[in-house]
Amino acid sequence: MREEWIFADKHLSKISVSSNPNNEPVSVHGTSDHLRCIGIGTDAAVFQSIDVPDYAFKMYANDRVQKVQIETEVYEKLGDSPYFSTCFGYKDNYLVLSFEEGINLYDCLLQGIPIPNEVIEDVDQAREYVRQKGLNPRDIHLKNILLQNGRAKIIDVSEYVKPGNDMRWEHLKKAYDLYYPFIKGKPVPHLIIETIRKTYNHRSIHSAPFDEFMDQTYSFLSKFWKKED
Ligand SMILES: Nc1ncnc2c1ncn2[C@@H]1O[C@H](COP(=O)(O)OP(=O)(O)O)[C@@H](O)[C@H]1O
Ligand SMILES: [Mg+2]
Repeated sequence: MREEWIFADKHLSKISVSSNPNNEPVSVHGTSDHLRCIGIGTDAAVFQSIDVPDYAFKMYANDRVQKVQIETEVYEKLGDSPYFSTCFGYKDNYLVLSFEEGINLYDCLLQGIPIPNEVIEDVDQAREYVRQKGLNPRDIHLKNILLQNGRAKIIDVSEYVKPGNDMRWEHLKKAYDLYYPFIKGKPVPHLIIETIRKTYNHRSIHSAPFDEFMDQTYSFLSKFWKKED
């Protein structure tokens, strides 16, 4: 039996995705009245189809299509879990996932939407689950976590086959515990959040330790909000 998601295929074939230098978000080429772009990452763009809206189609950039297989295999190993999307299949350059409602944590910060503590606990549990399945929970950052009915859904598992700890989650958690109570519910301007993101991503072994980076960021934010009051 053909899966119903195949109805989106002819529309997806009108679209292509290309990557950009410096790990900047991908570019989308072409359009279709049947598709809505619901997210842009650094490897792929994600679409929802108006004909079969329960699915999310993660289309990889032309030079990253080998990741389709890798991410599919990660989903197979993860099996059924409330912390992750379901992967229904794949084709050439895209993965077919369950469409997940919700707003990512990056947008929560931008809009001042409170991020409850349960989300942090869920991500910790999800990471434990990933390790139990023999995988490595990497690349867990604000744009890869959705706030869904007060709980967490992790939406990008492509790096779980890579070794090493990128420390992203540990750092985010530390910032959440120490500073989030002071900024909870306050929208963080886009320019500020992007400056923090870029400074963090370009830190080198010669840069200040993470704790110092966090202190400086927080003191900058406090001054900014004082000026606004
Ligand atoms: N299953 C899904 N349901 C709804 N939105 C999704 C889904 N998967 C991804 N997205 C959206 O698309 C964006 C990019 O997807 P992501 O898998 O993180 O791509 P990349 O591997 O390029 O980082 C996410 O930040 C999210 O907003
Ligand atoms: Mg991502």
